[in-house]
Amino acid sequence: MGSVMESKLTARQHALIKKGLVAQTESLGMVETPIVEDLLKKGKCRTVLDIGCGEGSFLLQMAQRVKGARFLGIDHNELAVDDAIRRLRRRSWRNVKFRTAFFDSGFERLQYDAILTRYTLQHCSNPQDFVRAVFDRLKKKGIFVSIESLDAYTDCHEHDPVWERFRASLGAIHKRIGSNGDIGKSLGLLLRDVGFRDIQVRVVLCSPSTVGWRKYQNVVQALAKLAFDLFPDLFDRTLLDDLKEWLGDRAQLEKKDPYLCSAIANGTRP
Ligand SMILES: C[S@@+](CC[C@H](N)C(=O)[O-])C[C@H]1O[C@@H](n2cnc3c(N)ncnc32)[C@H](O)[C@@H]1O
Repeated sequence: MGSVMESKLTARQHALIKKGLVAQTESLGMVETPIVEDLLKKGKCRTVLDIGCGEGSFLLQMAQRVKGARFLGIDHNELAVDDAIRRLRRRSWRNVKFRTAFFDSGFERLQYDAILTRYTLQHCSNPQDFVRAVFDRLKKKGIFVSIESLDAYTDCHEHDPVWERFRASLGAIHKRIGSNGDIGKSLGLLLRDVGFRDIQVRVVLCSPSTVGWRKYQNVVQALAKLAFDLFPDLFDRTLLDDLKEWLGDRAQLEKKDPYLCSAIANGTRP
């Protein structure tokens, strides 16, 4: 059986998730995009496929930074692709396209210089087959870049009970929707086992000290609202209220510097 993110979402689910994704691009994206940009430029990548592009904000950020490349974003969720196309129209860039498609071993066999996934592999019911299908669609010396959650490493400079409750609730939600919020730990192995070489994995932190207090506040608030709206039995009203108060205390947040964590892996097809 597939995960929730591999299945068809309702318009309400999509609208709620979209807000969370935009907040993630504006916060976590700040620490992730420079690394991906560097990898795409060093690899002289001209064609890039982004699998599970969602509403497109992250891909558009990449396209703005890597102007010499052509980007194709695919997502099986038609509503997300419609949003991405609307975003693109506001810019009228010619090097970006979005299309509705489900990625698996049956996906068309064109080959790319780079393939990107961001918070997509973690929702995949068979990550090994997915990464193998990615490998087969890369040119020789092509690179795979995968940005995924690393919830177990999400922590705080100083212990904080509210942050711990937030983390525990998100963990329960990942389990409910059939996703692996700790897939960041196994990215290196996943890439090695299908034949990638020159593998690197690094961890980035999104905290008041790295992205600024306001952006950190926005993303945590957006994720909390999303969790509460979709799973009130796993993320209760008390936690939502406590978190709101907690996020309002800027001095405490800057002192404790709590962080969300993601892993960025890359590997080259020999
Ligand atoms: C958490 S969202 C991440 C969206 C975007 N990459 C970002 O970073 O904001 C995961 C997306 O992957 C899509 N997705 C999951 N499995 C997929 C598959 N096998 N093929 C295409 N899209 C997929 C979902 O529809 C969802 O939009």
